[in-house]
This record gives sequence, C-alpha cells and structure tokens, in this order.
Amino acid sequence: MRKLIIANWKMNGLRAHLTELCGIADAAAAHPLVDVIVCPPATLIAAAVTSAPRLMIGAQDCHAAVTGAFTGDLAAAMLAEAGARAVIVGHSERRAGHGETDADVRGKAEAALAAGLFTIICVGEDAQAHDTGAAFSTIEAQLAGSVPRAPRIDQIAIAYEPRWAIGSGRTPTTTDLGRIHAEIRAALTIILGPDAAQVPIIYGGSITAANADDILRVPNVDGLLVGGASLSAADFGPIIAAAAGLSAAD
Ligand code: PGA
Repeated sequence: MRKLIIANWKMNGLRAHLTELCGIADAAAAHPLVDVIVCPPATLIAAAVTSAPRLMIGAQDCHAAVTGAFTGDLAAAMLAEAGARAVIVGHSERRAGHGETDADVRGKAEAALAAGLFTIICVGEDAQAHDTGAAFSTIEAQLAGSVPRAPRIDQIAIAYEPRWAIGSGRTPTTTDLGRIHAEIRAALTIILGPDAAQVPIIYGGSITAANADDILRVPNVDGLLVGGASLSAADFGPIIAAAAGLSAAD
C-alpha cells in the first residue's frame, strides 16, 4: 500500500503561513509514491488550493447535516466547494472538547462521503483506558460506532491516535502499535468485510522526523497523521521523505 501522510494544522495558520504550504507541496512533488494531504484551518482552504494546486487539501471537521441552523458549523459540501477533497472526522480534540459521540462522528463521515470527500475517521483511547488495559475495547467500540457501513472503500482511512500521545512527546512502543493496528484491521474486517484490507490505517501522536521512519515500518501502519511537526516544511518534508523510502521498498 502507498503511504498516506496527513498534516493536521489544527487552529494554526494565517495567510502568511502558506509559504510553508508551498515548501510542503515541493516535498510532496519530490516523492510521488506518497499520498500527502494537508488540512489547514477552514479559512485557508481556498487560498491553500490556489497556492498549492497539485496538493490535496483537506478540512479538519464537518457537520453531519447538509444545511440548517447550525451557527458556526460547515457542511461537507461547503468544504468541497471551497476546494477541500478530504476531511478529518472524530479527532479526539473534537470528541473530548466538543462532546462528539461515535454516532455524531458516523453522521459526519456519512455526510463527508456523500459530498465526495476522502474521509479520515479518528479513533484512540485516553490515558485512563491506556493505563487500565482498556485501549482496544475503547477503540473497537469507537470503530463499531463511527465507521459508516458499506462506504466506498477507496474513500476512507482510519487514524489511530491515542489521546495520551497527542502533543505529549510520547508514542506507543512499536510492539504495542503493531498489535493495536492489527487489532484495528481485524475489527475493520468484521465491519467492512475483506475489503478492509485496502483501507489505510494511519497513526497519529507526537510524530517527528526523528521517529517517523521507525513507526512507518510497523506492520499495518500505512501512514501518519501529523500535528505539530506538520506546521513547517522543514519538519514535515523529512517525514514525507521517510514515507517515500518505505513506499519505494514495498
Ligand atoms: P501531534 O498531533 O502530532 O501534535 O501530537 C497529532 C494529531 O492530533 O493529529
């Protein structure tokens, strides 16, 4: 499988930041074996598409409804019209900070797919579940509740992002990560059938240029969702390059 490397800029970036996007676009163009998506704040989507027309630009969230009285929210079709071709749903910062349930996330994913957006569905346990050995039961329930049934199989990815690893400088051991990604693949096969083998399962949480290569070598880790280290081309470019080395070796 080609490696999928996604930048999640979160609530960072004004127009001036698009100079970094151009550097990221250059790194992506230099490594065509890697699929790269950059998800800036929604306010920058249209400008990002203009600045880097060959780069796939995504959004960080969408609403489940097509239109309506939802002040401040954005429908998937609005994001698509602005130029987004992908969207992240169910990020833990939305699950925890905005009270999103699995049913909410599934509704968003269904809306995103209906709007033609490649949909990255995030799952991951918090520190308490991690410490009490409840990581996989948490993830399994999130997958069962959040993944749409019978999606177009080439239009989804799963991002495993343990909440305790996000922005903390901590990552799972490669052994733990391999076990969890294999368990996610098995759970996804129950939900989607054998086609689940084609769905990228990517990892996110404290990825840097220094740890990307080791983590990308873990079986069933098909790519990365990168927060802090995706904000500059200097940090993100080497992560794309690490993925290219492994895509080429496949
Ligand atoms: P981080 O964030 O790379 O800054 O840990 C990852 C994410 O939340 O997607």
